Amino acid sequence: MKTQKIIVTGGMGYIGSHTVVALINSGYSIVIVDNLCNSNIVVLKSISEITGVTPEFENIDLTDDNKTAQFFKRHNDAVAVINFAALKAVGESVQKPIWYYKNNLNILLNVLEGMENNAIKNVIFSSSATVYGLPDILPITEEAKTKRPTSPYGNTKKIAEEMMEDFLKVQPNFKGISLRYFNPIGAHESEKIGELPTGIPNNLMPFITQTAVGIRKELKIFGKDYATEDGTAVRDYIHVVDLAEAHVKALKRLLNSEANDNFEVFNLGTGVGYSVLDVVKSFEKTSQQKLNYSFEKRREGDVPELYANPSKANEVLGWNATLTLDDMTASSWNWEQKVRNS
Ligand code: NAD
Ligand code: UFG
Repeated sequence: MKTQKIIVTGGMGYIGSHTVVALINSGYSIVIVDNLCNSNIVVLKSISEITGVTPEFENIDLTDDNKTAQFFKRHNDAVAVINFAALKAVGESVQKPIWYYKNNLNILLNVLEGMENNAIKNVIFSSSATVYGLPDILPITEEAKTKRPTSPYGNTKKIAEEMMEDFLKVQPNFKGISLRYFNPIGAHESEKIGELPTGIPNNLMPFITQTAVGIRKELKIFGKDYATEDGTAVRDYIHVVDLAEAHVKALKRLLNSEANDNFEVFNLGTGVGYSVLDVVKSFEKTSQQKLNYSFEKRREGDVPELYANPSKANEVLGWNATLTLDDMTASSWNWEQKVRNS
């Protein structure tokens, strides 16, 4: 049987590259399209070293209507698109909202148009728990009402889901799945791919590992007066390798025509909330290092607690997160050391 071709936008990035590895290992043929604005060409070699397969790669800015249309025409034998490509820095999006709306929403519009014009009928979208805003009930199920996210970045995710829903309504044979990620951290066990943040990291895990290698002086923990067990904020951290596997399951659901609706959403988290101090403690244990940290006031826009009820993904996709917080902090630490020593 001919292998099925999947278009992966943003496949050179953090989550995309781990997913490409999982897809290749599951027998799919991959074409990555990425303009490398937040990734590096060496990732292609790393994917090839891990899997023994070098995926096709095209360097295209997906906000370019013509180039994207031509790209889709060239790859009209693809059976699905996984759309990772987006800008993702929350703070930067507050400063540069137009840039974020233009980039993230035009990418999706061009992708949907490319699918429509070439009868590529399946799409998976990278969404975020940010669409739930400040949740009323924890753990969060997909039934929870979405709210206006606190940042333009978050709002691009909410609007993108609405755009997909409208598009899929009028394309009866097309199907889409939006995956709402909670807090992806960790790196591949090969230590060949991982997160490579540019500049000062916004996110907790890279800030911890960069502090431990001495690039940052200390971790500032934002808030110690939340109504949580130890006073620090709680999130649902999920290993990027588990997250990648969920994309394979979602893809199979689409390709095997198992989806009930033409647009479905799934939470991707472990269902367990960990505090910032839990993550620090796990890091200290797995790295056998003491971390420099101090407490700061709360960060604006942060919610006190956010964790998923992942039952729908567990039951419907047959997917479960299997890796622990210690697996996450250990692999992040191994990756950070590898990056600094290479
Ligand atoms: P990433 O920045 O590592 O990867 C995104 C990739 O998209 C990069 O390789 C970048 O070069 C590419 N890209 C951006 N704009 C492009 C454009 N105009 N044309 C072509 N390529 C473009 O980010 P990631 O962490 O791997 O995130 C992947 C997706 O998951 C994003 O949509 C992100 O918003 C979403 N997401 C991430 C997180 C997280 O914590 N990492 C959480 C929730 C959702
Ligand atoms: N934190 C610190 N110090 C830091 C960085 C983070 O204490 O230097 C804390 C935050 O205050 C928060 C927790 O660590 O309590 C996690 O923060 P991250 O920035 O790692 O993650 P967020 O939960 O804020 O954001 C993540 C993704 C976003 C997404 C959001 C949805 O990075 O893309 O989840 O909830 F929009």
